[in-house]
Amino acid sequence: MVKVLVAGGAGYIGSHVVKALLKNGYEVSVYDNLSTGREINLFSQAKFIKGDILDFEKLSDAMKGQDAVVHLAAKKAVGESMENPALYAQNNMIGSLNILNAMLKNNVRHIVFSSSAAVYGMPEYLPIDEKHPLKPINFYGYTKLDIERYMEWYAKLKDFHYMALRYFNAVGYDAEGSIRGREIGSQNLLPIIMDAATGRREKLCVFGTDYDTRDGTCVRDYIHVTDLAKAHVLAIEHLLKGGVSDSLNLGTGQGTTVKEIIAATEKVIGKKLKVEYVGRRSGDPAVLTASSAKAKEMLGWVPKYTNIEEIIRTTWALEQ
Ligand code: UFG
Repeated sequence: MVKVLVAGGAGYIGSHVVKALLKNGYEVSVYDNLSTGREINLFSQAKFIKGDILDFEKLSDAMKGQDAVVHLAAKKAVGESMENPALYAQNNMIGSLNILNAMLKNNVRHIVFSSSAAVYGMPEYLPIDEKHPLKPINFYGYTKLDIERYMEWYAKLKDFHYMALRYFNAVGYDAEGSIRGREIGSQNLLPIIMDAATGRREKLCVFGTDYDTRDGTCVRDYIHVTDLAKAHVLAIEHLLKGGVSDSLNLGTGQGTTVKEIIAATEKVIGKKLKVEYVGRRSGDPAVLTASSAKAKEMLGWVPKYTNIEEIIRTTWALEQ
């Protein structure tokens, strides 16, 4: 059996990746410090090692005998990365370098890396493809780009193979209900909407209504986490077959406005949300949509979830 170590495998996207790997017959070990990942998201069929990617010895031990790594252990709040760059340098950069170096030390040659649309910065054209200039406008995005560049160099210098997956807006939960650990403290739109819908938060603030979009609110490319998870499995298969190393966008190509997300949520939950329209949040582009033609071509990846209501239903199911 092919052995895969999933760093960050108890987290939101990580737990979905673990499920997809198990379903496809991989032997999975999860390496997670449970800082944001949750024990409830662990699968009994996967081995669990509680550890931090900053602990090189422990990480290197966990790496022994693995065939591939999926690395999703990272801090991901854009605002926090601007206020506390040292935390992001430590976790996302030093932590990721530890992973790459522990791989080299233990002869593990394949990695799928969780990257982000944040590597592009402000869109110069749409939809964004992988040829788009890489000019991150926040430190979080910079850390992702920097690790991509390290991987590019390692692949040039060593028997080392990578796939960087640049997620657009990850949303939704496993439709079969296997993952019950809701993300806590997320500053992203859908988790905040869920907080407002359940009373954990008084209201939802919509950042900006004067964008040049069809209803004045920002457009994003919301991609279901199960579709993201599937791409990781395909990327591992691709690398193990000797496929080339690269960076790929993962999105649906479809744009949805904040107001459309609110309307779809209200339909799904059957009640009105308490919404306040406030000023723009700094650093938000009006529109962000992906071209995932390259992922389709290289991996045969096609997202299955294209209906935003269906996606929201999988999220709302966790609140029931
Ligand atoms: N939004 C609100 N109110 C909120 C939260 C978000 O109106 O309380 C709006 C934002 O202004 C944006 C949209 O909802 O228009 C989506 O916001 P998110 O914070 O959920 O996501 P972003 O598009 O800002 O961020 C995503 C990823 C990041 C990545 C970034 C850039 O979550 O990891 O795209 O690619 F860095």
